[in-house]
Amino acid sequence: TFVVTENCIKCKYTDCVEVCPVDCFYEGPNFLVIHPDECIDCALCEPECPAEAIYSEDELPDDQQEFIALNAELAEEWPNITEKKDPPADAAEWDGKSGKKPLLER
Ligand code: SF4
Ligand code: F3S
Repeated sequence: TFVVTENCIKCKYTDCVEVCPVDCFYEGPNFLVIHPDECIDCALCEPECPAEAIYSEDELPDDQQEFIALNAELAEEWPNITEKKDPPADAAEWDGKSGKKPLLER
């Protein structure tokens, strides 16, 4: 499965949702997640993310491992998203910032 990681937080560009053939993205206030049981591993979303926040589970950096469980948990709680929308006005300022994990809103 593919996993949305920390750099999506407060960037949320949503380019990823447009290409997913099975519409398995779910949207929270400032982050998106992939439903691990619905993702078919097509890899189409990975290059679409301007923030490079999407990884194959197999290639997840060590410091992003907790996002496997977070994607699984939040995909059950959040609504589905299938159409791109405008990112937050300050998305570019947050792109690449470290330490965004505590800023994830539920
Ligand atoms: Fe959707 Fe494919 Fe990305 Fe999985 S890998 S979330 S199926 S676009
Ligand atoms: Fe997030 Fe990248 Fe999608 S920033 S919303 S994973 S395009």
